[in-house]
Amino acid sequence: MQKMNEIKVMRDPIHGYIHIEYKLIWDCINAKEFQRLRRIHQLGANFQVYPTAEHSRFSHSLGVYEIVRRMVNEIESLSTILTEYEKITVMLAGLLHDVGHGPFSHAFEHVSEFDHEEYTAKIILENSEINKVLKTVDNNLPHDVVKIIQHTHPRAILNQIVSAQLDADRMDYLLRDSYFTATSYGNFDLERILRTLRVRKLAYDEEQLVVKYSGIHGVEDYIMARYQMYWQVYFHPVARSYETIFIQLFRRLKDIYQENKAYFHDLKILVPFLRQSKPTIQEHYQLDESGLLYCCALISEKTDNIAKDLASRLLNRKLFQYITNTPENKKLILKQLKDMNLDEKYYLRSESVKTNAYTPYKGQKIFVELLDGEIVELEKASTIVDAITKGEVKQEGILFYPKEGVDDGSN
Ligand code: NI
Repeated sequence: MQKMNEIKVMRDPIHGYIHIEYKLIWDCINAKEFQRLRRIHQLGANFQVYPTAEHSRFSHSLGVYEIVRRMVNEIESLSTILTEYEKITVMLAGLLHDVGHGPFSHAFEHVSEFDHEEYTAKIILENSEINKVLKTVDNNLPHDVVKIIQHTHPRAILNQIVSAQLDADRMDYLLRDSYFTATSYGNFDLERILRTLRVRKLAYDEEQLVVKYSGIHGVEDYIMARYQMYWQVYFHPVARSYETIFIQLFRRLKDIYQENKAYFHDLKILVPFLRQSKPTIQEHYQLDESGLLYCCALISEKTDNIAKDLASRLLNRKLFQYITNTPENKKLILKQLKDMNLDEKYYLRSESVKTNAYTPYKGQKIFVELLDGEIVELEKASTIVDAITKGEVKQEGILFYPKEGVDDGSN
């Protein structure tokens, strides 16, 4: 496997430096599908709430790669059981796991009716620059990378490194999102966790990443960080309001597309997401956040009043308000919409989110090695985690709706 003449480094506020040793990794970073991630916010609409949450999927993907790189090199019990090919495959999986994300990801998954994971696999397996780069090394490499991302690689330890409960993806995004939102909740001691991770064999000789008992406080902190970040950042209703308007705008555009294809003569990059058949990876590549917002600027000058209003709301942050979803509230809002002459199809949306701090399930549990060498599930070793695992699942239902009517330009 070809190495660089010199290790390349990039500065990063979370990890200090990102280290690139292999030419293959460097070439993947320079592939156009990976460069596109610079134009996708890591936190979707959260910059509408936290003014500095401007970081991209590009920097997150590099961060995940860096954590995987450190795991496979610095955890001795892991480093010694993996081949060089396996190490590189899992580093690539970390690097490329988010390559299929669309603009304002969460909103976009509602719009395009199929998810970023499907695109990620297609980009790696089909005719893309990334696929070409991987195939120069080994014809099986694209498939092996996708297996890890899809959690189906026969060597389960590789899947655990990238996505499980205590994995490189989550560890990077919690620290990164916490840093760039300037909220302290997501912070935890990554160094301590990395120092205390080991590979052990469970029943049936299954290889499993476990945390030594001396790392348990770091893991408790990590679990709490996740919980707090969900409610403070990921589920923030103002960010969801921005996403809601995107979803409603696409609903309107799909209706316009049925009747007036000429409307889209200067919005061609949107069309693959409005028609029935699935977009190709080339069409997916073309639509990033810069392109989408440019389309909003064009739509805000066009004829359709509803699309025009929704697009202007996005550009000028005239967001929908929100209220708890109860039958009484809904009745009240429907009446208000009627009085303002607004169609509920485009101006009312209900959404419900729920999460709890830690849900252990088969194949995705955190294990702890006790001082006497016994390996137990995290909730058996930690009273804090045991208590929150038994706690109620927090759920929140919200209605989004506009405060004021459409500005039709007639005043
Ligand atoms: Ni990710």
